[in-house]
Amino acid sequence: MAQLWGGRFTKETDQLVYNFNASISFDQKFYKQDIRGSIAHATMLGECGIITKEESKAIIDGLEGILSDVESGKLEISSKYEDIHSFVEATLIDRIGDTGKKLHTGRSRNDQVALDMRLYTRDEIVNIKDLLKELMTTLHSLMKDNLDTYMPGFTHLQKAQPVTFAHHVGAYMEMFKRDFDRMCDIYDRMNYCPLGAGALAGTTYPLDRKLTADLLEFYGPTLNSMDSVSDRDYLIELLSALSTIAMHLARFSEEIIIWNSNEYQFVELDDAYSTGSSIMPQKKNPDIAELVRGKTGRVYGALISILTTMKGIPLAYNKDMQEDKELTFDAIDTVKGCIALFNGMISTMKLNKDNMKISAMNGFTNATDAADYLVKNGVPFRDAHGIIGRLVLYCIDNNKAIDELSIDEFKEISPVFNEDIYDAISLETCVGKRNTIGAPGPDAMKQVIAINEEFLNNI
Ligand code: ARG
Repeated sequence: MAQLWGGRFTKETDQLVYNFNASISFDQKFYKQDIRGSIAHATMLGECGIITKEESKAIIDGLEGILSDVESGKLEISSKYEDIHSFVEATLIDRIGDTGKKLHTGRSRNDQVALDMRLYTRDEIVNIKDLLKELMTTLHSLMKDNLDTYMPGFTHLQKAQPVTFAHHVGAYMEMFKRDFDRMCDIYDRMNYCPLGAGALAGTTYPLDRKLTADLLEFYGPTLNSMDSVSDRDYLIELLSALSTIAMHLARFSEEIIIWNSNEYQFVELDDAYSTGSSIMPQKKNPDIAELVRGKTGRVYGALISILTTMKGIPLAYNKDMQEDKELTFDAIDTVKGCIALFNGMISTMKLNKDNMKISAMNGFTNATDAADYLVKNGVPFRDAHGIIGRLVLYCIDNNKAIDELSIDEFKEISPVFNEDIYDAISLETCVGKRNTIGAPGPDAMKQVIAINEEFLNNI
């Protein structure tokens, strides 16, 4: 047991209590951020004359040595310390002597941990943005390459109207663009420095909080010391945004699982992204898509967990908040893994364009366009809807697609039909004429693709 706070205690901590309380097993994940924060603090203490310049330099050199020794593996983070803050401070004192004991002047572990977690999550937001950008770049090229790859669009998982693969993928592009923007918003709101808040009420030392905020590349210091040590809103926002990313990936995964099924065969996942069965030799399973879909549960779990933990905590710091770490780390690592794997999976999968097209041609996806044809020829829409309903019933009874009917069969149902009906309900017309912005027609899609290109070039 190695603690920073033995002075007022007359008894050793019970070993089980110590283990229950300790956080080193997980907060060592932000050793870099802890050391970086301490270097900024020591620099500021020196600049403000709270410690001497020589002491400041000795502390900074010592901290830099610890950082490089941990990085190189020369120094192991020992689990005998309560937390990463204790480990770094004790190692510093061990290495540079009494000067090391001055590092914690005007600081508490409460503002220290608040800082470390912000620095860590801020770095991870940048990593998540990079991964989202890679994923969106893949989606962007899939869109550019598939403007005329016809497929059925669905509602209620029933074939509805024809779209293109570019258009379908474009829907996810919009979702991930919003996810990306959410990351930027969270970054902007959380990028204020809590260091200097002390335990809860600031400090009587003349700290320069603006200087530490600048050194650590924050927009500025936080404005209320009690809020600074007890605010975890930014983690809640982050976990909410991660949950939304996980949900988007899960929906897309579900579609890929359906498209990759024997019944659909719209896509074929690459061998490198599929797995086999131990008993059924024919199987090639979409495990990665299933895992991405399945991992959504633990990300949502993290969000609910932190919301619940935070709801009953009085101001300011309480130990409950230590619970923010494992779940946040897990959710971040999980979502990062999911984005990367998902990107690899969709960039290597093969599209069976013929199957998609055949599927779009069956299932009466052009029924709305057949009704619109009647409307353009003077039939009120509600009547047209009824006529095409009867037409569909006739097709079902005779096992035909609408465009397989002869002109006599068409005319039997309504005399308004003419030879030009075939052109009006072809797949090319159904999709190609839908060119209001946001629709699947190629002219509309090209405008959106140009907007996306601009978006990707500017992030
Ligand atoms: N491990 C603690 C946490 O994660 C660090 C802060 C400890 N502060 C305290 N007053 N015990 O929240």
